[in-house]
Amino acid sequence: MDLQFYNLKQVKDDRGTLVVLEDEKDCPFAIKRIYFLVNLNKERRGFHSHKEIRQVIVCQQGEFKILLDDGLGRKEVVTLSKPNEALLIDIDIWHEMYDFSADCVIMVLASEHYRESDYIRNYDDFIRYVGEKHGKRA
Ligand code: TYD
Repeated sequence: MDLQFYNLKQVKDDRGTLVVLEDEKDCPFAIKRIYFLVNLNKERRGFHSHKEIRQVIVCQQGEFKILLDDGLGRKEVVTLSKPNEALLIDIDIWHEMYDFSADCVIMVLASEHYRESDYIRNYDDFIRYVGEKHGKRA
């Protein structure tokens, strides 16, 4: 699977580090929504794919793992632990997040407003959806 990472600009000085993310440059879409994940525990999250909404995820503090699965046999597990590293979660990618450190803070940028109808939350439905889409393209 081709994973798309974006290396964000960091401005470091003796006051701390400033990290910059600009849409359409460090992120392949115009940003319509931002949400944060904090106070995470041992519960895995995610377990869904999106039909149209694209997202970019950044671990601002701490670390966690993310499993990405394209439903066509390709799976990757990535550890995100750097505030200057952004990862694209494209459409049609089943993803699960886990192994959050106690201090983990995650920022997600999304291409659309929240819309529950964009989610596929059942893995079998996801495999069927991607399979049918792929079949049609072939
Ligand atoms: P969900 O996307 O399932 O979280 P995760 O993938 O991290 O497990 O969202 C959890 C709940 O929050 C769900 O009830 C929908 C709600 N939610 C919103 O209301 N707005 C949002 O922008 C997001 C991302 C979730």
